[in-house]
Amino acid sequence: MELVFATNNKHKLEELQAILGNRVKLLSLKDIGCEEEIPEDHPTLEGNASQKAFFIFNKFGYDCFADDTGLEIEALNGEPGVYSAHYAGEEKSAEANIDKVLKKLTKIKNRGARFRTVISLVVDGLEKQFEGEVEGKILTEKRGASGFGYDPIFQPKGFSQTFAEMNLTDKNKISHRGRAVEKLVLYLKSIE
Ligand code: IMP
Repeated sequence: MELVFATNNKHKLEELQAILGNRVKLLSLKDIGCEEEIPEDHPTLEGNASQKAFFIFNKFGYDCFADDTGLEIEALNGEPGVYSAHYAGEEKSAEANIDKVLKKLTKIKNRGARFRTVISLVVDGLEKQFEGEVEGKILTEKRGASGFGYDPIFQPKGFSQTFAEMNLTDKNKISHRGRAVEKLVLYLKSIE
């Protein structure tokens, strides 16, 4: 089975290919000649994941999956959510995004938050979605140097480290993306 992973992140693709083994051959956007920006203008993670996967299926004719992730902070009514990447502006600066979150949460006691990933898989034009989430809290300052995005201020429930203080293997075991991918992989193995 050939499947397009609608991402430009080579690292994400290689990691998943290793998990899937040779049952499924993952193709990148580059492999199928897709060089354009894929639209993602829905107000929800579900809508965006779906939009990206169907864009590839409809335009290029490949079975496909796409993911979308957001950080949902309780005291901010689920913000930044679907706007996580460019919360502080179009330059998509992780540093600026973190500063904006910390500023908005100044003096706020409820630090509860979660990361949520939605994967949309489209096979033969039929869609199936998989969700993964991890609960945690937003710290008052940054800790740790690994990872990316909001990792330095997110501490998952039951752990004393932030995501930025964990190595990638440990983070993936409990992360939103890791959990969503686990469900996708189980499903792909069940239909092969
Ligand atoms: P994407 O949908 O995977 O591109 O994620 C959207 C945005 O959410 C990223 O640009 C990051 O700001 C944030 N994000 C997604 N996953 C993570 C994570 O594992 N740690 C920290 N931030 C993340």
